Amino acid sequence: MYSRVIGTGSALPSMALSNEGFAKQLAEVGVETSDEWIRSRTGIENRYFADASKGETTTSLATLAAQRAVEAAGVTASEIDLIIVATTTPDMVFPSVACRVQAALGAKGCAAFDVQAVCAGFIYALNAADAMLRAGPYRCAVVIGAEVMSRVLDMSDRSTCVLFGDGAGAVVLRSSSDPGILAARMYADGQYDDKVLGLTASLNHGRIEGDPFLRMDGRQVFRLAVEGLVNSAREVANLACVHTEDVALFVPHQANLRIMTMVANKLGIPDDRMVKTLAEHGNTSAASVPLALDRAVRAGMVKPGELVLLQGVGAGMAWGSALIRWA
Ligand code: ACO
Repeated sequence: MYSRVIGTGSALPSMALSNEGFAKQLAEVGVETSDEWIRSRTGIENRYFADASKGETTTSLATLAAQRAVEAAGVTASEIDLIIVATTTPDMVFPSVACRVQAALGAKGCAAFDVQAVCAGFIYALNAADAMLRAGPYRCAVVIGAEVMSRVLDMSDRSTCVLFGDGAGAVVLRSSSDPGILAARMYADGQYDDKVLGLTASLNHGRIEGDPFLRMDGRQVFRLAVEGLVNSAREVANLACVHTEDVALFVPHQANLRIMTMVANKLGIPDDRMVKTLAEHGNTSAASVPLALDRAVRAGMVKPGELVLLQGVGAGMAWGSALIRWA
């Protein structure tokens, strides 16, 4: 038994902000940056921020992406029996985003839960859904990555605020005797704790304790990301008895173009097979992989029978890869 991707969808919020526009806004509060710095160090040119006054939340973006994926898959709400949302920025501590999306989709009664693995979240959620579909009794899952990272960015910290954006992406998976997800693996190394990447705030007896903003040691994350992504890609390729050089569509976590290019080079995947949507929307954490995948699918970049490699990495550290024979 396998699970197959039968539909994809994505959503971006309404407020587009170019590097130049953002640099101007930041200059007004005494933070110095430039389009040239952001573009040359990361490959990012633009990002979208959710507008709370328009009701744009993690749940609303997740729902929109899921609706588009469900429509592309041609399934009805009553067929969905599992919803998993990967997010680091849920609207509230509980209930989960997944339960709220379930209500919005009208998929009453099905299993729904969130996964927290930061930028590796979608790969973790996909792994979990794949295992649950292959084991049964689940048959049709909606797997979503959705974030409103702008809520946790310190706009006085130029080393992080220029990197992230908001958005959502989703896939519909169906169990099938045809492949399918060939291999998927997730990994973590908790020894780094919040030292290289973290958001340490917690609710405690009516108070917010700790730092409510994302903090990152970019250089350390860079090194760990490349190592984890290359190793996990080789692992899933070995498990599926294929070569990474045969991947037709490479969908890496959209965090930094230099990381993406370095990983693709080490895996022998030509640049024109790598999906690059980072320039348009920045690092959308758990949303980044399904968002990029949806863009590629809708642009006709992948054909049935081809190999697709998905990868995520983020705080924890947590990372993973999934190799798919496209349906
Ligand atoms: N504008 C202008 N200058 C800046 C900015 C900015 N936005 N940010 C930092 N700088 C300055 C620094 O202050 C530093 O100045 P100094 O030399 O005078 O002290 C200089 O630029 C160099 O800073 P570095 O941090 O060394 O820059 P680096 O070349 O390493 O690039 C970056 C930083 C882009 C963050 C890089 O380390 C990186 O991409 N790391 C990976 C991060 C990542 O991928 N995170 C996401 C994965 S996990 C997740 O998604 C949650």
